[in-house]
Amino acid sequence: MNNNTPAPATGSKVKMKESIRVFASATVANVVCGFDVLGFAVDNPGDEVVLRKSDKPGLVITKVTGDEGRLPTEPERNTVGVSISNFLRHIGEDNLGIEIELHKKMPLGSGLGSSAASSVAGVFAVNQLLGNPFKQEDLLPFAMEGERIACGSAHADNVAPALFGGFVLVRSYDPLDVVRIPVPENLFCTIIHPQIEVQTKDARSILRKQIPMKDAVVQWGNVAGLISGLFMSDYDLIGRSMQDVIVEPVRSILIPGYHEVKESALQAGALGCGISGSGPSLFALSKDEDTAKSVGEEMSRAFQRMQIGSEVYVSRINNEGPLIIE
Ligand code: HSE
Repeated sequence: MNNNTPAPATGSKVKMKESIRVFASATVANVVCGFDVLGFAVDNPGDEVVLRKSDKPGLVITKVTGDEGRLPTEPERNTVGVSISNFLRHIGEDNLGIEIELHKKMPLGSGLGSSAASSVAGVFAVNQLLGNPFKQEDLLPFAMEGERIACGSAHADNVAPALFGGFVLVRSYDPLDVVRIPVPENLFCTIIHPQIEVQTKDARSILRKQIPMKDAVVQWGNVAGLISGLFMSDYDLIGRSMQDVIVEPVRSILIPGYHEVKESALQAGALGCGISGSGPSLFALSKDEDTAKSVGEEMSRAFQRMQIGSEVYVSRINNEGPLIIE
């Protein structure tokens, strides 16, 4: 997939469907060693966006649920509004009347790609509403604009897997070049979301801007090892490669008990474990579903010992991408 300047395939007299409801899933970004370049989609949780044709020109957010009133409802400040309005501007249809409902079905500031799920659901939905003027891969830059408004950085390692499904490598940002990576069929992911919040913007601002060459060598060895392990269905290689000497040492201080919880996952049989996106969620990969469930139980117990409540999700890698619900 290679995506630079998508060309609109619609004129000004677009035909709109009456309404559409779309689900887009959570994603695990970075996948330990691939800061800003690796990510994968899971089956759940995820967000839903409903779009309705309106006679009144312009975008209006009519309803947001599941956010405890925290997300802005002005379209120009909301990730869904921004990504949809970028899309409409690009096709010269800024004045189309569209009502937006956003149903957040995953926690904010969780490291599960919450803003990406909303942006992707919104952009995918508006493309469908207008009869698919763009191919799915051409929607990525619009969804990335939603990330920019959410955290100040248009990284693609959440939006790309949410949009395409599967395990994704962002080979390059300029030009944008996104590659789907195959995964072994029995690879399962455990995600644990502790009841604390970390803002991506903050978790990015504490990272070092320069890295020593010796760390870079370790890191790119692991990225290449992880990708090779996925291609070859070599679980041991996948596990050995889930090491991060650059980001984890800095960000783990934001997650109470991080090392104990990670150790509990490894003791329970996980191949590897790390921070999901910018945290505070952790994720682990396992080579079957039963192990992935036990890993979740042990991680949850480890958080309980520190009086921290948590939610656990176990899922295959989701190869579907966004789903049209109605
Ligand atoms: N790659 C991004 C980061 C993902 O780690 O900041 C944020 O979810």
